Amino acid sequence: MIALSLAEIAAVVGGQTHDIPDPSVQVTGPVVRDSREVEPGSLFAAFAGERVDGHDFAQQVVEAGAVAVLASRPVGVPAIVVADVQTALGALARHVVRRLGATLVALTGSAGKTSTKDLVAQVLRRKAPTVFTPGSFNNEIGLPLTALSATEETKFLVLEMGARGLGHIRYLTGLTPPRIGLVLNVGTAHIGEFGGREQIAQAKGELVEALPAADAGGVAVLNADDPLVRAMASRTKAKVLLFGESAEADVRAENVRLTDSGQPSFRLHTPSGASDVTMRLYGEHHVSNALAAAAVAHELGMSAEEIATALSEAGTLSRWRMEVTERPDGVTIVNDAYNANPESMRAALRALAAMGQGRRTWAVLGKMAELGDEALAEHDAVGRLAVRLNVSKLVAVGDREASWLQLGAYNEGSWGEESVHVSDAQAAVDLLRSELRPGDVVLVKASRSVGLESVAQALLATGAEGEVAAR
Ligand SMILES: Nc1ncnc2c1ncn2[C@@H]1O[C@H](COP(=O)(O)OP(=O)(O)O)[C@@H](O)[C@H]1O
Ligand SMILES: [Mg+2]
Repeated sequence: MIALSLAEIAAVVGGQTHDIPDPSVQVTGPVVRDSREVEPGSLFAAFAGERVDGHDFAQQVVEAGAVAVLASRPVGVPAIVVADVQTALGALARHVVRRLGATLVALTGSAGKTSTKDLVAQVLRRKAPTVFTPGSFNNEIGLPLTALSATEETKFLVLEMGARGLGHIRYLTGLTPPRIGLVLNVGTAHIGEFGGREQIAQAKGELVEALPAADAGGVAVLNADDPLVRAMASRTKAKVLLFGESAEADVRAENVRLTDSGQPSFRLHTPSGASDVTMRLYGEHHVSNALAAAAVAHELGMSAEEIATALSEAGTLSRWRMEVTERPDGVTIVNDAYNANPESMRAALRALAAMGQGRRTWAVLGKMAELGDEALAEHDAVGRLAVRLNVSKLVAVGDREASWLQLGAYNEGSWGEESVHVSDAQAAVDLLRSELRPGDVVLVKASRSVGLESVAQALLATGAEGEVAAR
């Protein structure tokens, strides 16, 4: 964090100082909520969670070098006591980003936020010091913590913003007002909670409503290929920059194809030129993510060549998203178990099909959560797509939704042993251990709650010390 005295922080968050002998002492280290991440100079934010209460760690974090605790009650060590720690954290983040000279880039969407945020950061950091959301810390706590990790040197702050309902993005943009706002797509993630696609669009579009006007530098980066995102142009005063494969996009891809290993390759066009990209990431869905990142980078002054080079070299920074590992016996494991929704299921299956040409392909799939009324139809459609793409074997893991996946495949013309339904992850592992042959490609994917990464991990352990070619 930029250095701030405890007195200054207390004033910003409207808190009372307790047990602080010298309020001019500065916080110089990161603001953290996990006691294990405390460094000398840190401010520790004490949250009372379901299982642990951060206040219980007050003594320990101060011994580890924390300057003070941001707390909701006195804790016997230096503390700034506030009514609500989350609100205080937000206020501190707002104060700090206002003082930073950094350009704030925020992004949201139904699928691909984390992948795209990682791409944006990997492109921008070639130009100037960049701080970005670690993993998926995109909520009302993760966002301020990320913003607070910026320093005086930071030029670009790239923030993932998640929403599970109306008003969420508006709250987040209130904490860290972006100059550039990117909306990736409006899909079906959390549709059950939102109540429908229109509502999701309404919620995601709060990002572009929060942008400054065009003459004040505001830029809305919108997906030209997604009608609900494209339509957000009317909800912003910012300049609109479109990305996508459609001809009207300002930043677009031509000659998109997947290499034999499932990696997208295309010619990138930006208003400043064109250049070829071959990605290290797997799956066609990354084309859209890459174009989004390219649009942001273009806006921030990077040339098409610089952007293309950065996109071609970018790797996976966050785990279990199309993480490809070759086992020594020639079996390829594609671990995309981080999460799933209908769009990403389709993209992953297409990548599997591309990677699996001439090889046996396995799709080990579990349920896609939170689909509301569309759950049956969407699982059925994914099962059918697996057959249409000629996936050799579908292993549907879990109960009700898995049976819909398997039934979809069955009804599309897969029969006998080409699609199977197993009860749980262990059953899937047992089946695969006995059936996998050298050369097979295995995709593992389901919603987060299913925890199918355990299947990928077990399969990798089976193959002994597989060289991790994960990117
Ligand atoms: N543009 C995209 N369209 C559809 N699915 C995507 C896209 N980008 C990534 N995915 C897939 O969606 C899942 C979640 O990706 P992630 O980047 O973590 O998104 P988010 O942060 O929005 O949850 C992964 O399985 C990934 O492969
Ligand atoms: Mg995420």
